[in-house]
Amino acid sequence: MPGLVIVGAQWGDEGKGKVTDLLAEKADLIVRFQGGNNAGHTIVRDGEEFKFHLIPSGILYAGKTCAIGNGVVLDPRILLEEIDGLRRRGVDVSNLKISANAHLIMPYHVLLDTAGELKLGKLSLGTTRRGIGPCYADKALRLGIRVQDLLDEKILRTKIRTALEPKQQALRELSVQRRKLRKEAGEGDREAAGQAIGSSPDPRLDLHTMTEEHLSYGHRLEPHIADTARLCWDALDAGRTAIFEGAQATLLDLDHGTYPFVTSSNPIAGAATIGAGIGPADIDEVWGVAKAYATRVGAGPFPTELTDGAGRHMLERGHEYGTTTGRERRCGWIDLVALRYAVRINGMSALAITKLDVLSGIGSLKVAVRYRSREGALLDRFPYHQSILHGAEPEYEELPGFDAEIGDCREPSDLPGEARAFLDYVAKFVDVPVRVVGVGPGREQVVWLD
Ligand code: IMP
Repeated sequence: MPGLVIVGAQWGDEGKGKVTDLLAEKADLIVRFQGGNNAGHTIVRDGEEFKFHLIPSGILYAGKTCAIGNGVVLDPRILLEEIDGLRRRGVDVSNLKISANAHLIMPYHVLLDTAGELKLGKLSLGTTRRGIGPCYADKALRLGIRVQDLLDEKILRTKIRTALEPKQQALRELSVQRRKLRKEAGEGDREAAGQAIGSSPDPRLDLHTMTEEHLSYGHRLEPHIADTARLCWDALDAGRTAIFEGAQATLLDLDHGTYPFVTSSNPIAGAATIGAGIGPADIDEVWGVAKAYATRVGAGPFPTELTDGAGRHMLERGHEYGTTTGRERRCGWIDLVALRYAVRINGMSALAITKLDVLSGIGSLKVAVRYRSREGALLDRFPYHQSILHGAEPEYEELPGFDAEIGDCREPSDLPGEARAFLDYVAKFVDVPVRVVGVGPGREQVVWLD
């Protein structure tokens, strides 16, 4: 498996970090290819918890090269915090490489993200407010600032000046609506509204301050800055294994997800080519990661969402609170119509099913096998039309549940028959083998099938 892509098969937070961490043991290079610090994953190793937003999970292995690819948008302040945090805990980060072509999330991106969400009011997308959308927008507008720019004071100052002017104007216009927005913003949003659209000039938007601050980030990041595409070619050409790690997930894909309730990048497997700088033929395997149920944060359609006791069970047992924002996640049954779509669009060769232990004691297990449209039509395929998806009601197959705790299971035969039947059902329905199953948060809490 020289080139292996790992992607989220649902709406994010499936446990990709844990699966990457498991597979990274056999890899030489681990590369993040899109997204930014809107992502977050937790790895529990020997009872110690590590939370990452930008750094690939493989960093916990000594001697592996971990790269942040050109397709990632990175907030240098957050990245340095992560590097410092790992160093303090004795983790060697000298093998972390950062693409010189990756784009930087600047302070004005974060302010614009928040201001934009507040302006949308009830129509807001529920972004993580980390500046992701505005940063990718600047990249497409060719107003972006890249990691390599941190190393040249003149270029950096000129680029920030050029990018800053339209932002200041946009934020000024938003500040005209300040009072209205403050009034409309919910209690928790008031402070954010004040920060995003305050009347006095924000010191974070001062050209000189921003340039100096970013030059100092550049000095600190310089030893890590590299041509990461070349690192990928060298590894692949030598027959070494490279893992391309996606963030977010298929149904949050800018083109193929539930637009506009999506992120601003492409988390599907094909995007690994662009975000890491490899060719399609360099990808040998695509692993999709899905929970044994489903969750979503932020707004947007979620056909199998539950508001009953089963949903509460998933929320509480699954600790379904965002790693990045702490928000409560919406929970529901696994949606096999959406999963089959994810399998196809990613060209998945294998599935990892995580958090199966959360379903223990929930009663019988439901899996959505088709939708019924508002007009009563039965839909076997994930609808491309947003209005149809918004009105889609899932139809379920009910499978026997299990009450036994499965956290100590390590072999397929240790699992209750009902849990195995559930996994078989999923694999057969989406026509992809389930290769590994998560039965608890610990690194060792997995069952390899096959
Ligand atoms: P953004 O990526 O911050 O612009 O947010 C866009 C949408 O993607 C929102 O609904 C977020 O909640 C969602 N989102 C972004 N990153 C993640 C993630 O890592 N897990 C789950 N949802 C995410």
